[in-house]
Amino acid sequence: MGEPVDLAGMDLGIDGDAALVTAGSAGLGLASAEALAREGCDVAVCGRNEDRLEEARDRLDQLGDGAVRAVQADITRKEDVEAFVEGTVDAFGGLDHVVTSAGGPPPGSFLETDDDHWYDAYDLLVMSAVWTVREAHPHLADGGGTVVHITSRSVQEVIDELVLSNAVRRAVIGLMKTLSHEFGPEIRVNAVLPGAHETSRIEELVEAAVDRGDFDSYEEGLAAWGEGVPLERVGDPRELGETVAWLSSDRSSYVSGVSIPVDGGSTRSV
Ligand SMILES: NC(=O)c1ccc[n+]([C@@H]2O[C@H](COP(=O)([O-])OP(=O)(O)OC[C@H]3O[C@@H](n4cnc5c(N)ncnc54)[C@H](OP(=O)(O)O)[C@@H]3O)[C@@H](O)[C@H]2O)c1
Repeated sequence: MGEPVDLAGMDLGIDGDAALVTAGSAGLGLASAEALAREGCDVAVCGRNEDRLEEARDRLDQLGDGAVRAVQADITRKEDVEAFVEGTVDAFGGLDHVVTSAGGPPPGSFLETDDDHWYDAYDLLVMSAVWTVREAHPHLADGGGTVVHITSRSVQEVIDELVLSNAVRRAVIGLMKTLSHEFGPEIRVNAVLPGAHETSRIEELVEAAVDRGDFDSYEEGLAAWGEGVPLERVGDPRELGETVAWLSSDRSSYVSGVSIPVDGGSTRSV
């Protein structure tokens, strides 16, 4: 109870579908791409760093029978996003599932955050999703499809020192809700709100805390991140990925316009 389980083998009925994940060369985006690949989807991911893309391609290649694309693209550049979507449609012969992820905006308080930070965060978190969905829409509408936005639990409960995440990500939730109305019945649109998951971002923060002497070991530092979480641990990225795969499948066929926290129960608001 309360531990990650191996869900491989639970057939979601999306075998042979085509999926793309923005910023999917690592972390939660990659975990989502992996879950879709395990289900037999053709999967495309993008990111900026070539070594990371190569590693992601190797991991995805080992998971399913579907085709894999790992494409260099910066999602803050409209032309990169459009080329990623169009290249994927050409390569896979269509598109059924879109997952939008992104990097994290820099931390900081309101007074530490200047105009450039705000505009950069808007491009990274909001416009990347706008460009991706706009370009993907005709292909998703043709035969039906799904969109899942990966955002953060900060859209339900503000987090200290994360003004950009707290404020800018809410636009993605407004977008998601609007699209769920505009795009039905052909396309379902939902969001997942991760709490703390053990991706490279958190690994680096824990390692830095250990180096500073705040903790004796990585395990102790990681456990501290789980304090206050009802399930008493940080999440495994696979647990977020499995939720994304479920929302992309017909197993969630009457679910649209929702934001699902995947946070071990840590969000207190209802
Ligand atoms: N992990 C958590 O616990 C957690 C919790 C709540 C919310 N989130 C949010 O969920 C999202 C994913 O987080 P994560 O932990 O998976 O991060 P991560 O492990 O750092 O991975 C981020 C991914 O995004 C890519 N990326 C970043 N900027 C990009 C850009 N401009 N263009 C294309 N790709 C880009 C990175 O590749 P390149 O750097 O090579 O481009 C990498 O593949 C972030 O918005 C994060 O703030 C994470």
